[in-house]
Amino acid sequence: MAISFFFFLLLCSFKNSYGFLPETATVEIMDLPRTHSLQTTSLLPSTVCKSSPKGMKERSSIPIVNKLGPCWGLSQDKENLVPSHAEVLRQDKARADSIHSMLSSNFLEKTSLQDKPGISIGTGKYQVGIGFGQSNTKLSLVFDTASQLTWTQCQPCSGYCYDQKDPIFNPLKSSSYASIRCPSVTCNQISSEGMQKGCSSSSTCIYGVTYTYTTFSVGFLARETISLTSSDVFRGFLFGCGQRNRFPNGRNAAGVLGLGRGWFSIVSQTSKKYHKVFSYCLPSSDESAGYLKFGDRNLPSSIKFTPMSKSFEGTNYYGLDIVDIGVGGERLSIDRSVFSTSGTVIDSASLITRLPPAAYSRVRRSFVAKMTNYPTAPAFENLGTCYDFSGNSTVVMPTITLYFDGGVEMPIDARGILYINKISQACLAFAKNNEDDDVMIVGNFQQKGYEVVYDDANGRVGFAAGSCS
Ligand SMILES: *[C@@H]1O[C@H](CO)[C@@H](O)[C@H](O)[C@H]1NC(C)=O
Repeated sequence: MAISFFFFLLLCSFKNSYGFLPETATVEIMDLPRTHSLQTTSLLPSTVCKSSPKGMKERSSIPIVNKLGPCWGLSQDKENLVPSHAEVLRQDKARADSIHSMLSSNFLEKTSLQDKPGISIGTGKYQVGIGFGQSNTKLSLVFDTASQLTWTQCQPCSGYCYDQKDPIFNPLKSSSYASIRCPSVTCNQISSEGMQKGCSSSSTCIYGVTYTYTTFSVGFLARETISLTSSDVFRGFLFGCGQRNRFPNGRNAAGVLGLGRGWFSIVSQTSKKYHKVFSYCLPSSDESAGYLKFGDRNLPSSIKFTPMSKSFEGTNYYGLDIVDIGVGGERLSIDRSVFSTSGTVIDSASLITRLPPAAYSRVRRSFVAKMTNYPTAPAFENLGTCYDFSGNSTVVMPTITLYFDGGVEMPIDARGILYINKISQACLAFAKNNEDDDVMIVGNFQQKGYEVVYDDANGRVGFAAGSCS
């Protein structure tokens, strides 16, 4: 940064005195650094937990915990609780596949409504603690911009609950808990939003959310007081009090926080106060904490907004429009129809960004051409472009930039380009979609270091670089 600023000053004085440098020269040097240079060891995951990032000073933000990182202490836990990189990538692929099938046009013809699976939870890597009930019991929830109903496991677990690290919420001990009766307008809304609805013999409204055949929650629809922060408390929040829950490898999570666009989402339920605006920052290094914030106050001044895509109106997804991708400081000038055919969603719980096949091959070709100084390594799961850095103390790699509609450039953080299985197998962290019309997914690996702002009232998504580290 200091170096490019120095170049800029140099060019300015140069231009002023001689006046022959083309305007674009300054722009390129300022805005499009060509490479990232990193110590090879800094690519490896850290084992120490650092102090809180910048955004955490504000009392109104909720810490985001990386359940796979050192701040959680998972590594000290039983070995089988730490998923391998291969397992993480497989869980992530399951999420991408489920988003693709959910959004594919012939999905409804292929599947009957009865056995309609939902969106896989994915890796469950990023979680936030939300207070439930008057006792303000803190429960760790996976935060998910592609699902809407917030649920947690509830006693007495009349069906079954999975093993959970947090204490299981007990509604009997909370006087602010109230279940929803049926039939009722609120209960009917469950089926309107595409979830399974039922009514118990005692006229209590029942919901069912299915993520995959092995991950689901069924229980009572109820209202409860929730505390996002000590000053942000909501009474009568509609949530799922799960009585029959399955979440393989979900021991760290007490449930899901639904940040999607649907009627039940926390964003919709708190819209009077926060006007459908929330933002989060996922740290670029695993040892730092990120934050989740609600409302449009205290947004970074450097934020740049791109319009939300109209193609996803009325769905639970936040769509946006990609217009191009840059590698090594050069725009690839990919045909816009490649992106408009697929459409693009941004997702908090997907890891790896999924590109349309034509865009992937262009990015890959350009990346490979700039990495010829490094020996290649075998493919890892669905990541096909890998390198062996065991003989190199520093790694110089090309920058990658996403270009969004509205002139928004998003240079991806240096830690968001390579997925490191081990130093001898570091892979380009982008995957190829199977079909041209599979939706492009901007995953959280590429969102690191940015405060990402979702503003559904004004139909826009914003990015502010360097908000947490
Ligand atoms: C990286 O290490 C390999 C193996 O020692 C070597 O062949 C290659 O030239 C090195 N690349 C750079 C850019 O230093």
